[in-house]
Amino acid sequence: MTDDYDDSSYDATARIVDPGGDTEDRRFEAALRPRKLADFPGQPRVRDQLSLVLEAAKRRAAPPDHVLLSGPPGLGKTSLAMIIAAELEQPIRITSGPAIQHAGDLAAVLSSLAEGEVLFLDEIHRMARPAEEMLYLAMEDFRVDIIVGKGPGATAIPLELPPFTVVGATTRAGLLPAPLRDRFGFTGHLDFYTPEDLAQILTRNATLLGIDATEQGIEEIAGRSRGTPRIANRLLRRVRDYAQVHGSGILDQGAARAALSLFDVDDRGLDRLDRAVLEALCRRFGGGPVGLSTLAVAVGEESDTVETVAEPYLVREGYLVRTPRGRAASPLAWQHLGLTPPVNAVAGAEQLPLEDGGGRFGG
Ligand SMILES: Nc1ncnc2c1ncn2[C@@H]1O[C@H](COP(=O)(O)OP(=O)(O)O)[C@@H](O)[C@H]1O
Ligand SMILES: [Mg+2]
Repeated sequence: MTDDYDDSSYDATARIVDPGGDTEDRRFEAALRPRKLADFPGQPRVRDQLSLVLEAAKRRAAPPDHVLLSGPPGLGKTSLAMIIAAELEQPIRITSGPAIQHAGDLAAVLSSLAEGEVLFLDEIHRMARPAEEMLYLAMEDFRVDIIVGKGPGATAIPLELPPFTVVGATTRAGLLPAPLRDRFGFTGHLDFYTPEDLAQILTRNATLLGIDATEQGIEEIAGRSRGTPRIANRLLRRVRDYAQVHGSGILDQGAARAALSLFDVDDRGLDRLDRAVLEALCRRFGGGPVGLSTLAVAVGEESDTVETVAEPYLVREGYLVRTPRGRAASPLAWQHLGLTPPVNAVAGAEQLPLEDGGGRFGG
């Protein structure tokens, strides 16, 4: 069950329509993943905190506290889990919440762990309840109760486990039950990357892939990748394709601009889903507020996709506002779409910074 787990089977960031892209992504991701904490650009806070936790554990020659990594897809949670194992010089066992539908699935994994091993639980918020309860006990007391038999004759046989480290990853930390969250001694929240960090990642990867790229070409991609390394890596390959087919083979700013527009990435880096969400909000719902599920239906996506994939970046860049009554478009959203907001627009203006609330749009 753990061996055939596929890291990209639930890849909500796979949004550029790209036949065979899944396999290509997986191949490239494996090749480009940094292997050491020091080679992991960006996320300075998480990196420093994690580095301390790991160093202290190594000095004590004991497994570190369990680690929870949260944040939107494509920011490096899986990469960090692998780095943690590599830094600890321990093997890593990889599985995911959706793969654990019964407590027995988890018991099988737990009972075969070696001392010090890292257990990576991706999408941990999607694990079945009974398994979750088994995990509490395993994380806290390094013990599982194996149930033998059925009905009144069933008995629980406690099984001691060697100490190990759980690394959990989630795009939805808010969905984790408090008792599970509390069992992680360290939580790292990954945030969107700066264009400078992305440029550093892209430069390294262009070299690894043997791509001849100019600084301006790299910067163009870095500034339009939604702060997300996975998207940056994917755009790098599309721009490379474009440069090879239509250009001189050199990845420069012209190739980057042309390829990004071909793939519907706009000048602010928003893609088709981002714009669909903003268009629906402004054109169909007068700027909102509107409930998440209504909005998701309007763009033909799952609520979960809108909430975990599109929304975090739109909120962070100030296009979208979450209000108690639903999602609302900010003045920036109207402006970005080239629309004039209605006079009474921007319900939820109370959440916007004052300088954005003024008469910039003239009614
Ligand atoms: N800080 C980083 N430096 C370099 N590459 C990164 C970084 N973070 C993520 N990546 C790359 O982005 C892709 C997605 O990362 P991944 O760890 O799978 O994200 P997540 O698990 O959060 O969805 C991988 O190809 C990985 O190599
Ligand atoms: Mg992942």
